[in-house]
Amino acid sequence: MTEKCQQDGGEKKISMKINNQEYNIVVEPHWTLREVIHDKLGLTGTKEMCDHGACGSCTVIMEGRPILSCMTLAIECGGKVIETVENLDIEKHPLVETYANNHAMQCGYCTPGFVMTAKALLDRNPNPDEEAIKDALEGNICRCGTYPAHVVAILEASTKLEGGK
Ligand code: FES
Ligand code: FES
Repeated sequence: MTEKCQQDGGEKKISMKINNQEYNIVVEPHWTLREVIHDKLGLTGTKEMCDHGACGSCTVIMEGRPILSCMTLAIECGGKVIETVENLDIEKHPLVETYANNHAMQCGYCTPGFVMTAKALLDRNPNPDEEAIKDALEGNICRCGTYPAHVVAILEASTKLEGGK
């Protein structure tokens, strides 16, 4: 009986492209995208702080938009193209260097979420002003109070993307 219930529990095999790599995984209906990325696939850069959509630490980019992976059911992500913070290192994105150079983190727990929000912003607007950056980051919370450094790091990354030094 128990076994039959588990088999009929609505599991579904889905495919997702994460950081340009194809993943096939059987997911249960209640699993969030964050659980799958972090716990099942071992991409541990994506963090969980609040687990209810309030802090932004679980942000990943899906189909070009920043989303909260703790609020997204994995079962709805079949066929999607997803980018996690690990991809910034693979791509040698300037945000990696500008965040480090400007010490835009303290404990670092919120940082992957901020960086992915910033990456999505720069993808759609490579030359944002300070106000656009603050608007984009409004859903990301940092308990260590690193807010000013994010703006500096993102402006510097923008300059590098534009070909400056
Ligand atoms: S862990 Fe997802 S918004 Fe806080
Ligand atoms: S650096 Fe610690 S929560 Fe942001």
